[in-house]
Amino acid sequence: MAGLRLGDIAPDFTAETTEGPISFHDWKGAGWAVLFSHPADFTPVCTTELGRVAALKDEWARRNAKVIAVSVDPVDQHHDWKHDIAEVAGAPVDYPIIADEDRTVSELYGMIHPGEGDTSAVRSVFLIDGSHRIRLTLTYPKSVGRNFDEILRALDGLQVTDSGPFSTPADWQVGERVIIAPTLTTEDARSRFADVEEVKPYLRFASVPA
Ligand code: BEZ
Repeated sequence: MAGLRLGDIAPDFTAETTEGPISFHDWKGAGWAVLFSHPADFTPVCTTELGRVAALKDEWARRNAKVIAVSVDPVDQHHDWKHDIAEVAGAPVDYPIIADEDRTVSELYGMIHPGEGDTSAVRSVFLIDGSHRIRLTLTYPKSVGRNFDEILRALDGLQVTDSGPFSTPADWQVGERVIIAPTLTTEDARSRFADVEEVKPYLRFASVPA
C-alpha cells in the first residue's frame, strides 16, 4: 500500500526473518518499533547503517523500541552478511532482518521507488507507537546513509510530547525546554509549569515537568 500517513495503523504482515518467521504486530507487542528498509545486502552504506543500529542496542531498549530491518534479499544471504556487519560495527546484529523476497512488506509500506534506480527498497524509516500507529516516516535515497542519532532524537521527541501539552523546538535534545501548546494561555501555562518564558504570546518555553 503506497501512501501510508502519520496516524495510520502500521499494516500487519507475516515475514521470514533472520530470527525466524514473525507476525509483525505480535512481534512488536505494546512497545515502539523502528521498521527500516535498505536496498541490498553486502553493500557499503547499508553495512554502516545496520552496524550503527546494532551498536545502538541499549539506546533502543532505553526507549522501549524494537528495531527491524527489511530488504528484498534472501534470509541465508542476510545471515552471511550479519558477520560482516558485526565485524565492521563491533556489535552483533541481534535484531531481525526481514527477507522480503516477494516484496510484500516493501510494497505494503511504499518502500520501492522505481525512480531511484531499480526495484529494491529505498532507505525508509517508520516509527510506530505502542498502539501500532505510524508516528513518523523518513525516506532517504540509496546514496545517503541515515543519521540514527536523529532517529533516536525524533523518538525522544515523540515520547516526551505524548505526555504534553507541548511540542519540541528545532534541534531539541532531551533535557532542553519544550514549547507550550498554543491551546494553553500563558496564565494557564504558568499554573502548570514551573518556569514559563514567554518569548512571543504564541511562543512559550518551559521545562518538561519531572
Ligand atoms: C549502499 O549501501 O552502498 C548502496 C546500496 C544500493 C545502492 C546504492 C548504495
